Amino acid sequence: MSALDGKRILVSAGPTFEDIDPVRFIGNRSSGRMGFAIAEAAIARGAQVVLVAGPVHLATPTGAQRIDVRSAAQMHDAVLSALPADIYIGTAAVADFTPRAVAGHKLKKVPGQDTLVLELVKTADILADVATATQRPRLVVGFAAETNDVETYARGKLAAKRIDMIAANRVGIAGCGFESDDNTLDVIWADGQRRLGPESKRVVAEGLLDLIEERISIA
Ligand code: CTP
Repeated sequence: MSALDGKRILVSAGPTFEDIDPVRFIGNRSSGRMGFAIAEAAIARGAQVVLVAGPVHLATPTGAQRIDVRSAAQMHDAVLSALPADIYIGTAAVADFTPRAVAGHKLKKVPGQDTLVLELVKTADILADVATATQRPRLVVGFAAETNDVETYARGKLAAKRIDMIAANRVGIAGCGFESDDNTLDVIWADGQRRLGPESKRVVAEGLLDLIEERISIA
């Protein structure tokens, strides 16, 4: 039997959209496929999965409880409200900044004005807040998108966010990460690390769940 059987696993997936005005937003290229693959694989291992999804075009994995959100603030509320959970896996590409205010009407060009300054404010860090919540899951797993110095940056995030494991996505190289069918992850925890892939996101998801099972068994 899988160590995940009967466990409540909370997964966040996809991008967030931060509205500027009624017709425009700031988004990113996350497809949500890595998080959905993890949700599917966890359900197959008997877990009870709550999937908090940003705006994505993906079918709900059979058996998942899906909560759709749009913005970083909505994702923050949905994830924190879904606690307690045994495990949190934060795969979402959450916007780090959001417009200070959403204009109530469509922003118009102003004759003679060639620049537009948007003021952005930092969003709340969902992963860090889950990791320090009173109902902290036993295992908190984050993701990181890195182009260089992958291990150094990933270890920095592991410590700064007080999480148990981080899966670093190498972005900026073909066949990896955002909008791709395949993925390569460098999974890092306090006293170890393992490379998964390049493989399909489902195969990489299975590898990540194997590592999570190992950690949860000794946690
Ligand atoms: N994350 C989050 N809430 C935020 C921002 C990020 O939960 N407001 C989570 C993501 O779900 C992901 C991890 O934090 O699991 C990514 O960490 P972050 O430090 O934002 O990584 P990068 O975006 O790669 O950051 P940086 O720009 O500092 O490299």
